[in-house]
Amino acid sequence: MKTFMLAIIVALARLVASVGSGGLDCAVAHAIWPEVFNDTANCCDVLDINNATATNAYVSCTNQRIDTLVFANSTLQSRDIPDFTLLTALTYLNVSSNGFTGPLTTLTNLSSNIEVIDVSCNKLTGSIPDWSVGAYSNFAYLDVEDNEISGSLPMFWPDSLTEIYLSNNYQIMGSLPTFPSNLQVFESEATNLTGNLPLSFPVNLTTFIVNDNQIEGTIPSSFSTSNLSIFQVENNKLSGSIPNLPKTLHPCS
Ligand SMILES: *[C@@H]1O[C@H](CO)[C@@H](O)[C@H](O)[C@H]1NC(C)=O
Ligand SMILES: *[C@@H]1O[C@H](CO)[C@@H](O)[C@H](O)[C@H]1NC(C)=O
Ligand SMILES: *[C@@H]1O[C@H](CO)[C@@H](O)[C@H](O)[C@H]1NC(C)=O
Ligand SMILES: *[C@@H]1O[C@H](CO)[C@@H](O)[C@H](O)[C@H]1NC(C)=O
Ligand SMILES: *[C@@H]1O[C@H](CO)[C@@H](O)[C@H](O)[C@H]1NC(C)=O
Ligand SMILES: *[C@@H]1O[C@H](CO)[C@@H](O)[C@H](O)[C@H]1NC(C)=O
Ligand SMILES: *[C@@H]1O[C@H](CO)[C@@H](O)[C@H](O)[C@H]1NC(C)=O
Ligand SMILES: *[C@@H]1O[C@H](CO)[C@@H](O)[C@H](O)[C@H]1NC(C)=O
Repeated sequence: MKTFMLAIIVALARLVASVGSGGLDCAVAHAIWPEVFNDTANCCDVLDINNATATNAYVSCTNQRIDTLVFANSTLQSRDIPDFTLLTALTYLNVSSNGFTGPLTTLTNLSSNIEVIDVSCNKLTGSIPDWSVGAYSNFAYLDVEDNEISGSLPMFWPDSLTEIYLSNNYQIMGSLPTFPSNLQVFESEATNLTGNLPLSFPVNLTTFIVNDNQIEGTIPSSFSTSNLSIFQVENNKLSGSIPNLPKTLHPCS
């Protein structure tokens, strides 16, 4: 009887051990980030990765390719950002707070299916890639806050972007970009931006926060008819009077 039970337990253990999630990106994932992707054959489930050092970790695949990778707020040692462009089906990337160094331009040629990039709270350097030249029709959310990014902003951004977060990159310079037409949120505090505010705001833009820059000129009259509900421009070099507030903006709420 005992032997029989043991045989069942051994069989069960084998079964559990053999149920890997598989994945065609695992060898590549291991090559670019071995501290996390320790298993070269299975990488499509959080059970396959070494997630002990992160407080927010998740991975999933579509057609055996990694589409979602969340590995954030880890205690991993500082290292250059892995080349996530080699994960060719990636749609959702959140690798915030991992102590990554190296240029953000490493991510220039990410999968054209990308929707979300959150690389905030690292030590990434260099300028922001010009993603407008790629075919990024689903790219909606970009957060590069709290890095060491420098240089001027790309003039054009993918029109699909709805939220852009750039704050606390003290060495950015140059003027505000041409806003993507679907933009809803733009935050760029403490980024050393110069030049003027845009003459008009995208129809869906509700949040615009650019405190602590060097933006000059006046607040455009289009402000009054915009759909802005949060508008913060403290500590810049603006002059002139404040136009009528838009209906969407209630100063006391
Ligand atoms: C990676 O896997 C090998 C073999 O299973 C194991 O010896 C090693 O401790 C693992 N490393 C990490 C960081 O999990
Ligand atoms: C990424 O992970 C961090 C840490 O858990 C979290 O605060 C942040 O909201 C996540 N980003 C997105 C876009 O969900
Ligand atoms: C790490 O993976 C385990 C499963 O192995 C899961 O239960 C846990 O929630 C994961 N931790 C994080 C931070 O995602
Ligand atoms: C990051 O991790 C620390 C502990 O290591 C925790 O206190 C903090 O709440 C976490 N932050 C987020 C955004 O998950
Ligand atoms: C991105 O791809 C383009 C076109 O293939 C190439 O010219 C460029 O060097 C690549 N950039 C990076 C940073 O790999
Ligand atoms: C901000 O930009 C000015 C030039 O416009 C430059 O002189 C200054 O060094 C920049 N500040 C930082 C912190 O990079
Ligand atoms: C603005 O938002 C509306 C409603 O969500 C949407 O239909 C529209 O495509 C968005 N973009 C522009 C440029 O109007
Ligand atoms: C504000 O949004 C409405 C739709 O919610 C749109 O019809 C209108 O054109 C927008 N106004 C401006 C100035 O963009």
